[in-house]
Amino acid sequence: MQQLVCVDDYEKLAVKTLPPIAKDYYQSGAGDQNTLKWNREAFARYRIRPRVLRNVSMRDITTKVLGHQVSMPLGISPTAMQRMAHPDGECASARAAEEIGTIFILSTISTSSIEEIAQAAPKAIKWFQLYIYCDRDITLNLIKRAEKAGFSAIVLTVDTPYFGIRRADVRNKFVLPEHLKLANFQGFLSDKINRTNEGSGLNEYVKELFDDTITWDDVKWLKGVTQLPIILKGILTVEDAKLAVDNGIKAIIVSNHGARQIDGTPATIEVLPEIVNAVGDQIEIYLDGGVRQGTDVLKALALGAKMVFFGRPVLWGLANGGFEGVKSVLNLMKSDISAVLGLAGCRSVAEITRDMVIHESYYSRL
Ligand code: GLV
Repeated sequence: MQQLVCVDDYEKLAVKTLPPIAKDYYQSGAGDQNTLKWNREAFARYRIRPRVLRNVSMRDITTKVLGHQVSMPLGISPTAMQRMAHPDGECASARAAEEIGTIFILSTISTSSIEEIAQAAPKAIKWFQLYIYCDRDITLNLIKRAEKAGFSAIVLTVDTPYFGIRRADVRNKFVLPEHLKLANFQGFLSDKINRTNEGSGLNEYVKELFDDTITWDDVKWLKGVTQLPIILKGILTVEDAKLAVDNGIKAIIVSNHGARQIDGTPATIEVLPEIVNAVGDQIEIYLDGGVRQGTDVLKALALGAKMVFFGRPVLWGLANGGFEGVKSVLNLMKSDISAVLGLAGCRSVAEITRDMVIHESYYSRL
């Protein structure tokens, strides 16, 4: 078998084996997919200023996130319906995160239930990604089950009153294959996603059931119904980052939802510096979007992120062997992060400093 040496290798192989509808669903961004491209290109526009002669023979890439010790500064972002990639789906991803020692975030619209994840990966650091349903009893039920199952944070996605328009899903009339269900729900709520009226069945599901009236008052409501720390995922502006602080939120994920909501937003790495400048001393800031290699992680950390997440690469791992595939992707990233840290002159995450990364525009001004 051909050797897979980077995340892109996993993607190339995965897209050959995945059912086309699942492949399109996982790969797509919204609209013209400019932001999808920018998420990656923007990383390349930051340059690394490595320090030399610093004895980097011993390197420690562990770090602490919301009080949890993790083996590397990279965790798993929530992605939906992972059993389309492999029969073990989210259970395999959570087990891989457990074995590697990093964070796994389970999507509300997963094809493995909260309880199945708890059973598959009892020792993993598990966070639950929440969508707020119009029916607050449904929402509350998810939160209470996550608490009971040992999830240690709620990641509230704030950029999704409804889903962005991903054209491939509309063309494909995307529906979840009949043999799969949204495992956190039963009956109508679970199998409605296996049907469509005209376009994407997912968008129809979300439009009908997710609450598009949510505001900061609902964040307050959420704080009132759970003791778990709340992380807001999908912040892209200083204004909203400051509101997160005003609302007593513990952490935010600078994210554009893998470029799947509104095309034309900046790349996440582009907005990170101003958000860090504004609130970096008051809240933990994480980032996802376009992360594919160790240098991306180094750049995000240098620009002030405390932790970085990725989603699609885990799906590419899943499609290439389930648990073993995800574990390989995580291990590959772990080695890559360690290698680039050393080459930049750092022996630990704490030694990564802001001056190690500079935007390319600096050099054109010289
Ligand atoms: C799910 O959250 C999606 O973006 O499709």
